[in-house]
Amino acid sequence: MQKARIGIFDSGVGGLTVLRELYRQLPSESILYFADTARLPYGNRQPAEIVQFVREILCWMESQGVKMVIMACNTSSALALETVQSEFDVPILGLILPGARAAVRQGRRIGVIATPATAASNAYRRAIQEMNPQCRVWQVGCPEFVPLIERNRIHDSYTMEVAREYLAPLQEQQIDTLIYGCTHYPLLARVLKSILPRSVQLVDPAVWVVQAAARELEALGLRDTGAALPTRFGVSGCPEEFGQRAVQWLGCTPTVEKVCLPQPESEPLPLKPLE
Ligand code: DGL
Repeated sequence: MQKARIGIFDSGVGGLTVLRELYRQLPSESILYFADTARLPYGNRQPAEIVQFVREILCWMESQGVKMVIMACNTSSALALETVQSEFDVPILGLILPGARAAVRQGRRIGVIATPATAASNAYRRAIQEMNPQCRVWQVGCPEFVPLIERNRIHDSYTMEVAREYLAPLQEQQIDTLIYGCTHYPLLARVLKSILPRSVQLVDPAVWVVQAAARELEALGLRDTGAALPTRFGVSGCPEEFGQRAVQWLGCTPTVEKVCLPQPESEPLPLKPLE
């Protein structure tokens, strides 16, 4: 079982920020990465739909023999983690608690940028205030970030404009800490850092969930110390498209398999059109 892969999943390329951390902190582990690109974005879907998607992904991951699953998606962590943890035998880790714990160590005026579903769930505020009731938390839903990142429009002036708009209410509150409450957002780090004062500490929950995974693997006697197998990538949408998008973040073109999961019963709520 030690040699089995760790399964990680997201709706798209956002989970690559967690994969990057896995490579850095746990280089001997073999990984199975799944991106639900056919149903992206998750962040403006209904909670019940997200729980259903997560169940389907976990069933598939279990059938692939993974030893642990890391939800590399805040939206899934906020809306589905507690429900599915009791439904599956495999250990499942989410981003919210590790991210909240790190933020509470760093500041007292905490901003969270997240998908609309994560912001509406209040998951970060609840977790942070349970850990430290003195902390104040402001959450902003950022519906346009994921589509812009997935369309590789990170360096557009429009993206900068949107980012300024999303960060303005947090800057007004003079936050001292900002959580990337969506795994896609560290890919915008340069844009966000160019807007925020240097004094604002940025928290990437990916760093902390991987640290928690390392501890859990150790405790369960599941830590692999041999050589890692090449990462296996699976997507529900177009493998070539994902490969092209992922190459800039991975530094090489991945081989991507098509995975057939059931199709959604409804479409996400319409997004504001991009300019
Ligand atoms: N990257 C994911 C997250 O952390 C999902 C983004 C989306 O599909 O809306 O929430």
